[in-house]
Amino acid sequence: MDNLIGKKCGPESTVLIGLQYGDEGKARVLEKLLPKYDAVVRFNGGPNAGHSLQVGDKKIALHQVPSGIFYDDKLLYIASGCVVNPEKLAEEIAEINAIGVSIEGRFLISSNATLIQPHHILLDRMFGKEIGTTGNGIGFAYSGRAVRMKGRLLENLRFGDYLSDVELGKSVVVDNLKAFSKEFGKKIDELKLADDFDAAMRNLSNFKSSNPMLIEDLISKDAKRIFFEGAQAAMLDVVSGTVPFVTSSRTISGAVYTGGELSPKHGVKVIGVAKAIMSRVGAGPFISEFGGKKSEDYCAEGNGYVNVKSKELEKFSADQLLKSQDLFEIGIALRMIGNEYGASTGRPRRIGMLDLVMLKQNCKLNGVDEVYLTKIDSLADFARTNLWGIPLVVAYELNGKTIDFIPSTANDCCDAKPVIEYLPSFKEDISSIRNFEELPSEARNLIYFVEEKIGARIAGIGVGPERDQFIEIPRRVVGGGDVCRT
Ligand code: IMP
Repeated sequence: MDNLIGKKCGPESTVLIGLQYGDEGKARVLEKLLPKYDAVVRFNGGPNAGHSLQVGDKKIALHQVPSGIFYDDKLLYIASGCVVNPEKLAEEIAEINAIGVSIEGRFLISSNATLIQPHHILLDRMFGKEIGTTGNGIGFAYSGRAVRMKGRLLENLRFGDYLSDVELGKSVVVDNLKAFSKEFGKKIDELKLADDFDAAMRNLSNFKSSNPMLIEDLISKDAKRIFFEGAQAAMLDVVSGTVPFVTSSRTISGAVYTGGELSPKHGVKVIGVAKAIMSRVGAGPFISEFGGKKSEDYCAEGNGYVNVKSKELEKFSADQLLKSQDLFEIGIALRMIGNEYGASTGRPRRIGMLDLVMLKQNCKLNGVDEVYLTKIDSLADFARTNLWGIPLVVAYELNGKTIDFIPSTANDCCDAKPVIEYLPSFKEDISSIRNFEELPSEARNLIYFVEEKIGARIAGIGVGPERDQFIEIPRRVVGGGDVCRT
């Protein structure tokens, strides 16, 4: 058993997290891993997450419902660390039903999960622009959870609280809206907003779980294996990310022991996902960004709506920009080729070099056992630039010193400059390769180089946007260190 080798007891559960700024391609990795697990659990965030899942001809974008809808034997659970928007959730369930899938009887929401109330969303839409939030009221719901009361007004409502007394719950929603309206002089239809909220809550009442021992029982009594599905990513963690340009939940692997209701008695395997050419949405430090501040400002123009996908595709030739001496222009080209735009909004994602300092730190602090590196095929684009090869960030320079960790303040992160090492690029299109040994030697060497730098095994790579464009990397003999390849 695991405890013989120093791990904790119980069947192995797994947590999957993003190791960068989100949008690393977690969904495609978890789709591969899910079949082995009995339950899929969300432990952080809310409708700010989003990914599409596909099985056969059935495709759907999920935001709050845990992945795993396509397996009718899997329990789906929104645990207490999450924030829930009932209206959006009810819509999402209707969409799931509309493609012929039912989650009735196998989907549960923790009574302790916090509700995103309408006033949280209104507040976020007023104040979230500075950091470029998703406008879903995430930060205000989590802050309501922490504050609990504002004066004599009950600020926070949890899923179970509301359903235990819906009349009282609805009156709290109305009171919070009235307080918002008074404070900001905004005329809103409080009753209509509260009615819609209430209708959605009643719709979801069947899914309530009041069992604080749910996860513990599944593991200890029923020997079930749990897959904890992380939302957002390590750099967006509310405490250890690039604060204040982060989301408002704990996104790190350890959050399964709080928001995921996992007892510290149980060990968990940690899988991290990273993207070979990085991206970030919203404001905040991004040390390896192509074009630095210029790119950040450009992507934020008009709240992200000026330089959208259609404009860029119309205005620029990616092939020409790739040849540019200006890293900012190379970044635009890589965004265009890699289709790095918000899926529903078309807003441009900021683009950067693979940052191995960040990856190493996040692997270490999150106890990452295996890394999946997506979009390796995109690295071939560097062969078409005038750069010396594939740029990788191996250290930072800050105030005249070379450092190998992420500075802890946003200001220092903005001042830090990347130290870049170039590896020879491969020119071939590798998107049809499915076997590690068949990759060009430059690509294999890059994998070895990254593993050595980050001290973690790379278990698989993405070589194209389609689900099957994926290579599992066979485990080799453990070489004594924590890199499992010799
Ligand atoms: P919030 O989570 O809506 O409060 O947004 C806070 C920051 O996190 C913003 O910069 C968002 O763009 C970012 N963010 C939130 N969710 C995601 C995600 O799923 N992928 C990437 N970035 C995200």
